Amino acid sequence: MQQRISPAARIRGRIRLPGDKSISHRYAMLAALAEGPTRIRNYSTGADCASTLGALRSLGIAVECAGDVVIHGRGLGGLRAPARDLDCGNSGSTMRMLSGILAAQPFSTRLTGDESLSRRPMARIIAPLEAMGASIAAREGRFPPLEIRGAPLRPIDYTLPVPSAQVKSCVLFAGLFAEGETTVREPVRSRNHSEIALREFGARIHVADRVIRLQGRPRLRPLDLTVPADLSSAAFFLAAALLVPGSELAIEGVGLNPTRSALLDFLVSMGADLRVLNRRELHGEPAGDLLVKSSALSGGVLEGELAAQLIDEIPVLAVLGAVTENGLTVRGASELRVKETDRIATVCENLRRMGIAVEDRPDGLAVGGRQSFRAAALDSFGDHRIAMAFAVAALRAGAPCVIERAEAASVSFPAFYDTLQQVTQ
Ligand code: S3P
Repeated sequence: MQQRISPAARIRGRIRLPGDKSISHRYAMLAALAEGPTRIRNYSTGADCASTLGALRSLGIAVECAGDVVIHGRGLGGLRAPARDLDCGNSGSTMRMLSGILAAQPFSTRLTGDESLSRRPMARIIAPLEAMGASIAAREGRFPPLEIRGAPLRPIDYTLPVPSAQVKSCVLFAGLFAEGETTVREPVRSRNHSEIALREFGARIHVADRVIRLQGRPRLRPLDLTVPADLSSAAFFLAAALLVPGSELAIEGVGLNPTRSALLDFLVSMGADLRVLNRRELHGEPAGDLLVKSSALSGGVLEGELAAQLIDEIPVLAVLGAVTENGLTVRGASELRVKETDRIATVCENLRRMGIAVEDRPDGLAVGGRQSFRAAALDSFGDHRIAMAFAVAALRAGAPCVIERAEAASVSFPAFYDTLQQVTQ
C-alpha cells in the first residue's frame, strides 16, 4: 500500500493510543501460564501482539478477543503440543520470549517468521536455552525457523552478552520452569516490563544492581490488567508536534516506565516543551498524560545506555535531528542493524531521498542540523518504525510525499495514519 502524506500546517488535539507492545506480549504469555482467566484491557492492536495470541491459541490456550483480551491460563504445565508450526509473523518479541517457555515443554515446536524475522539473530537465545537443557535447531545455527525440543530445564546464572530485554525475558520465562533460582545479569539496563509483570503475577523475583533473581516453579495468579499506551508509538506524535510550528498535542495514559521514558528526558534536554500530567501507576507500570508543544531543539548525542534505551525511537529522533540547531549523533547503536530492517541503512536512505545530509556509521549515524525536508518517494522497506518516522518527516516537506509499503505500520499501530490525519491541520 502507498500512503500519501501532505505537509501539515499544525498538529493539534488530544489522542489516546493503543496499548504498549512490549507489555502486551508479556501479559499475554504470563497470563497463559497463570491459573485461571486474565483480562487485559487496552491490549496492543498491532499485528505483532496478535502473533503472540495466535501462537498461544495453537498451544491450546483459549483466548477471547472481543473487546478486552481474555486469556484462559492453564498453569505452568497447561500448554499442549501444537498441531502446526507457530507463525511469529514479523515479531521478534514473540519468537524470542515464547522460546523461553517452549524450551521447557515436554514436546517439540517449530517457530517460523516472515522474511524480515527470518533474517534476525537467534543465537542470543539459543545459547542460554541450550545451557538450561533444551535443544534448538536453527537455520545456519542462528536464524529462524527454530525447532525447539523442550526438556526439563536447569536454572542458570547468565550474563547477557547483548543489551536485550527480549533475551533477558526469554531466560526469565524459561527460569519459571526450572527448579531453583535463575539469575540474569545485565551489563546495560534494558526495559524491565517482564520483571514488573512477573511480580504482579505472583512470581518471586528480586532485582538489585542490574542482577535479577527469579525462583522457579511458582504458581502464577490470574489478573485484571490494563496496558498503558505505547510510549514508542507516542514518540511519533511527540516528534510530529515538536517538528511542525504552532502545534500543541495531548496524549493520554502513556506508559512512563523509567527504562523507556529516557526519551522524554532526552527531548527536554534538547529544549522540548513537554510536560507530564496526571502521573499514576497501573500494575506497577507508571503512566501519565503528555502535553507537547512545538519547540526549537538544540540537537545532541545519543550513546551508551541512552542509545540502548531509546533504540526503537532512533529512527524518528534522526528525523527530528535534521531540524535541530546542531544535529543529532548516534553512537554505540549497532543493534539497529538487526532490527526489522537495518535501521541505520533504511533511515539514511530515506533521509537522503528527502535531501538531508547524513553520515552513516557502523554503529550509528550523524545527521546535521538546520536542514529542510524535500518531498520525495519514501519506502518503509517493510519496517513499521521506518514507515511512521518518515510519515512524520513528510509533515515538514515542501509538498506531499508518498510512502511505499506503508502498511508496515500495522505491525505495531494499525490506526497510525488515521490518528495522524485526525491531529493534522
Ligand atoms: C523489546 C526489546 C527491544 C526492542 C523491541 C521490543 C521488548 O529489542 O527493540 O522493539 O519488548 O523486550 P531487543 O531486546 O532486541 O533489544
